[in-house]
Amino acid sequence: MARIIGGIATSHVPAIGGAIAKKKFEDPYWKPFFDAYPPAREWLAKTGPDVAVVFYNDHGLNFFLDKQPTFAVGAAPEYVNKDEGWGLPTIPPFPGIPELSWHIIETLVADEFDPVSCQEMAVDHGFVVPMQLLWPGRERPIRTVPICINTVQHPLPAPSRCYKLGQAIRKAIETYEQDLDVVILGTGGLSHQLDGERAGFINRKFDRMCMEKIVDDPESLARYSIHDLVLEAGAQGAEFILWLAMRGALGGHVKQVHANYHVPISNTAAGLLVLDSAA
Ligand code: DHB
Ligand code: FE
Repeated sequence: MARIIGGIATSHVPAIGGAIAKKKFEDPYWKPFFDAYPPAREWLAKTGPDVAVVFYNDHGLNFFLDKQPTFAVGAAPEYVNKDEGWGLPTIPPFPGIPELSWHIIETLVADEFDPVSCQEMAVDHGFVVPMQLLWPGRERPIRTVPICINTVQHPLPAPSRCYKLGQAIRKAIETYEQDLDVVILGTGGLSHQLDGERAGFINRKFDRMCMEKIVDDPESLARYSIHDLVLEAGAQGAEFILWLAMRGALGGHVKQVHANYHVPISNTAAGLLVLDSAA
């Protein structure tokens, strides 16, 4: 049977992709940010997952405002990165695992979640940047199931709904017959607002509270509304629902392996959290 070994949440700011392309790892602005990632990679090297299920949001590359699914699950043999207009070089495709994707889709539909199934899916910085941070060498490319949650066009799904989606994904993984070790990623966040009167808004206190509570008391965070999240964390801070989906998939007790909080990266409070399910 497949099993979940743990989860990682990380911000996905596009400028990180630019800094990786230009190898700015020792640059004074970037160094404190990049220095937070070796412990996450060491945990991945130690636990050696076969598959990454990635909760992320598309920012207009694969879905635009004319067609915006609340939940979409990738079921493609590979996921292609395309130019989004940020000036980032595109990187090679990521291998999929369509059999597991279809098992997840079937389980979700039976569970009264109704995702869009995508046999083709281009992936943007929301997916690609975390993958580059966590598997920079790609010596043994990990297979992925991208799960896209709408955070760009209201109405957005409630935090509680995303947490329950995570729980449903756990059920799907645990009933998959093949022996696979699965890591769950949640990308995006923490507080940020990219436009409007509050552009540049950061809320350290709220972010720190979220990073703490998501470990042992995620249900208290799942009780926030989208409106609360926008108010407390900024319009794009609502991406925190992706972290909650990840945490929902991990189930009850988890052990925090590593955490980092760094302000700012571009306009964003960058968070990183590594949670181990074995505990
Ligand atoms: C930034 C952050 C994001 O999450 C995003 O999708 C785009 C830009 C930023 O801070 O620049
Ligand atoms: Fe984003």
